[in-house]
Amino acid sequence: MQMLDRRLFLGTASAAALVPAQLVAAPANGFVMWHSPGCGCCLEWAKRMEASFKRKLPVVETGDIQRVKRAQGVPQDLQSCHTALVHGYAIEGHVPPADIQRLIRSKSRIIRGLAVPGMPAGSPGMDVGHGRRDPYKVYAFAPNGRSTVFATHG
Ligand code: CU
Ligand code: CU
Repeated sequence: MQMLDRRLFLGTASAAALVPAQLVAAPANGFVMWHSPGCGCCLEWAKRMEASFKRKLPVVETGDIQRVKRAQGVPQDLQSCHTALVHGYAIEGHVPPADIQRLIRSKSRIIRGLAVPGMPAGSPGMDVGHGRRDPYKVYAFAPNGRSTVFATHG
């Protein structure tokens, strides 16, 4: 994780300088998902989260999911359907819960969140009703919008 942190900060003098105040102040136990009404795959992902974290994931429907993504600092090129806040980290799209658990254990203050851009078949919540599985990557992103590969699946 240290190596990953460093990659996200290539060319910057101080890691602490790039962590915005609101990130430091984010609730350490924040646990919520925002999504657009009628998007069912989000709810499938929420079920996987609840099974992995053994707690209820509050779901908030919003007509302006873009506003949530901006507020959570999700880079434009990494966008997917739903956006979540998990233990203070922004989680974009169908990220496997095990990867989120790994991020939480790392206690990184550099990584703002994880994202699976698009909605790849076979990712958690996108693996129902068909046998298709596409390889996909989980990206870690920093508050400055930089991102790097966190995990590869499939
Ligand atoms: Cu989706
Ligand atoms: Cu979704």
